Amino acid sequence: MNNRPVKILGVGAGVPQKVITNFDLEKIVDTSDEWIVSRSGIRERRIASENETTSMLAIEAARIALKKAQVKSSDLDLIIVATVTPDMLFPATACILQRELGAEKAACFDLEAGCTSFVYALSIAEKYLSAGGGNFALVVGAETLSKILDWEDRATCVLFGDGAGAAVLGLGEKPGIISTHLGADGGGANYIEVPAGISRMPASIDTVQNRLHYIKMAGNEVFKFAVKIMEEASLKVLEKGKIKIEDVNLFIPHQANIRIIKSAAKRLGIVEDRIFVNIHKYANTSSASIPLALFEAVQENRIQEGDIILLVGFGAGLTWGSALIRW
Ligand code: ACO
Repeated sequence: MNNRPVKILGVGAGVPQKVITNFDLEKIVDTSDEWIVSRSGIRERRIASENETTSMLAIEAARIALKKAQVKSSDLDLIIVATVTPDMLFPATACILQRELGAEKAACFDLEAGCTSFVYALSIAEKYLSAGGGNFALVVGAETLSKILDWEDRATCVLFGDGAGAAVLGLGEKPGIISTHLGADGGGANYIEVPAGISRMPASIDTVQNRLHYIKMAGNEVFKFAVKIMEEASLKVLEKGKIKIEDVNLFIPHQANIRIIKSAAKRLGIVEDRIFVNIHKYANTSSASIPLALFEAVQENRIQEGDIILLVGFGAGLTWGSALIRW
């Protein structure tokens, strides 16, 4: 049963209706559209309403992906929700998804590897199916980061947004997922964190008053790490897959900052028309960013059958991951 070829059968996405532009943010914190666009490439982002949860966005994305894949939810053997903003600490958001979709036979868990969570989940699901664990898997990257943003901190609140993207995996004759590469460096664990709320600093009046339940980020440190690791992770997965960079039809990087994307692409020698970018519309949606971009690339006919797609992400942890796909 080992080494069965696995491919992506369908993708989907779900984003909140509400759009917040940079001009809206000018009224909330001391910032400007000019600063945000020139430093990050972001123009607007989607923000969940008060009652909108991560699982709601995940379900929308999952239903579209299942429909495109022509797979019934009852046939799913595995559901992984990649997220840093689950509905609750437990139960897993994947279990809520299972209940809503009616995917009775699926094993379910959430996976947290910062913004790299989706690539980690994709790689693990691919290996699970490849090794004979089942025939169909659903992998969803979903976030409501707006709920853990400090709306008084201009250095972070302008950079993130909410959304979800999903992929249904199944068996193929030839491998669709050619190779994956994952890595981490806990030495950079404090560069991006939500300090309080669990065992190190349980929730208290002090943690709330000191705003410790929100994202804290050393932006410059993450920036330097990101450019370097995007290049390294891309080269690793190309080498594993025995594919040359010039054969990559579309590069879909984690959408955190347009300057990081352009610097990484330049180091790799990828020309602009082979890079997929939608950060201007959604900002950094963490685990949702790559599957949301993949979905839009398919919708916009930027991907044809047989194309080679390179996904690469990085995030809190620090973590990184890449995947090479033949569509
Ligand atoms: N509006 C106006 N000014 C601002 C804002 C803002 N929204 N935010 C910061 N500034 C100011 C700073 O206070 C600073 O002012 P000072 O020089 O007077 O102190 C100045 O702008 C420059 O700040 P820098 O941090 O040097 O700006 P930089 O060009 O590095 O851009 C940014 C900052 C956009 C955060 C960049 O470093 C970045 O994108 N880093 C990577 C972040 C990332 O990719 N995170 C992804 C992982 S997240 C995850 O895994 C959950």
